[in-house]
Amino acid sequence: MNPLREGLLRQRVPEPCTLVIFGASGDLAHRKLLPAVYSLAHEGLLPPYFSVIGVAVTPHTPESFREDMKKAVNQFSRYRPINEVVWNALASRMYYVQGDFKDPETYKKLHALFQQSDLECRTGGNKLFYLSTAPSQFEAITTQLKQSQLSEGEGWQRVVVEKPFGHDLASARELNSHLRSIFDEPEIFRIDHYLGKETVQNILVLRFANGIFEPIWKNNYIDHVQITVAETLGVGRRAGYYEEAGAARDMMQNHMMQLLALVAMEPPVNLQPESIRDEKVKALRALHPIVEKEIAASTVRAQYAPGYIQNERVPGYREEEGVSTQSTTETFAAVRLFIDSWRWAGVPFYLRHGKRLAKSGTEISIFFKKSPGILFNAADSETPIEHNVLTIRIQPNEGISLRMEAKVPGQMLQIQSVKMDFQYGSEFGSDSPEAYERLLLDAMIGDPTLFIRHDEAEQSWMFFDPILQAWKAAGAENLDAYPAGTWGPPASDAMIQRDGREWRRL
Ligand code: BG6
Repeated sequence: MNPLREGLLRQRVPEPCTLVIFGASGDLAHRKLLPAVYSLAHEGLLPPYFSVIGVAVTPHTPESFREDMKKAVNQFSRYRPINEVVWNALASRMYYVQGDFKDPETYKKLHALFQQSDLECRTGGNKLFYLSTAPSQFEAITTQLKQSQLSEGEGWQRVVVEKPFGHDLASARELNSHLRSIFDEPEIFRIDHYLGKETVQNILVLRFANGIFEPIWKNNYIDHVQITVAETLGVGRRAGYYEEAGAARDMMQNHMMQLLALVAMEPPVNLQPESIRDEKVKALRALHPIVEKEIAASTVRAQYAPGYIQNERVPGYREEEGVSTQSTTETFAAVRLFIDSWRWAGVPFYLRHGKRLAKSGTEISIFFKKSPGILFNAADSETPIEHNVLTIRIQPNEGISLRMEAKVPGQMLQIQSVKMDFQYGSEFGSDSPEAYERLLLDAMIGDPTLFIRHDEAEQSWMFFDPILQAWKAAGAENLDAYPAGTWGPPASDAMIQRDGREWRRL
């Protein structure tokens, strides 16, 4: 079974199961998980026998839990206003357990409730545990699941682990070995919601379902690659988490490395989950390590200072609630890296991500080498020939565009860049499913293709560990500032300009 292939061919219906959400009163459950469950219900994609058990510390009666979730769905679902018939059917299968994640009593209550819901909703003993809590709770929860024998039983059991997966290589390895002492690898679903985005899944289709791109997808033709994830949002109410994480851990080590792996990987031998994941790991394994003496030239980190976003004044990072006034956590990171493979030798990949930037947008741009410039690129030309650029817009305005050179109509030979543009919205005319809808469904089906394998997580940490250690050791030294609402610090432009290149304007 494979979502990239099967999803195109027919609807995939999971087996009956119970979804147990740890951290059910948290932000992710409200904004993403329950709205995704509701959308799946709305589309008739949930299994016919299904239930949800929320587990959290917040006191709730089953009714108040359902009310709270209904509000969340009403606020965040893509199907609004809520359809009462669909909601009532779902709500009648929603249960709640209040308790501390470390307390064995919580799991006794959960076990009893699971048995009740399993009977009432005929879910066949199948359980999907979703760890939507602080990572510090992952180990305690899974240990308790084992001790209370919830991690075994009649049906299947699977666990979805939210990011961040570890804080560094050592902690990711530890978490992997802990999880694998309780669950088998095929039962572990390390989530990276970027893989659930339609446009991200489309990278493989673009590369391998079109005959024209793959032959030129290599260093002979590609000059460099840029990956940008820009956000206008600040840290909001997540300072507690973000102070520990920072931009590189929050976005680069996981989401952006996945984008990079999909762009850089070799064609898989087939669409089986392991074939695809094998190729992604190989690409990550080929990352050229950035050693200490290269860190200053190949990385940039910075923090946002007060500034303006859409004409509104916003505070600097150190003024945000919950952030230390001495904080050295980066909210912007840029990295220049190379991949040591025959395909990519000598092709720089430039990655940048920041909060409170001038604009929100995620895109991957492949810059092809310029034409030789013998005919049109005369030194005195006022319109120098530009790179052809293939841009994959992940969000917003999902689509793909190709920049090329064209003659401006008229008597003169004037050349200008023009764009061929494909837009999902206008082409397919329907809303793409939310990433969490896709991934929840895949986890219920047991399809790991769009989830991170243990070695992918470790390989990516292996690359980032030396960078993060050097940044930590440097403290405030070399930590730049940028006004909110700009494109990051001058050092980021300087990094790419040293190579004679420019960041693409979003
Ligand atoms: C999350 C990060 O994983 O991804 C957030 O923790 C970030 O800091 C978010 O804002 C971005 O996701 P999306 O889907 O809005 O691009």
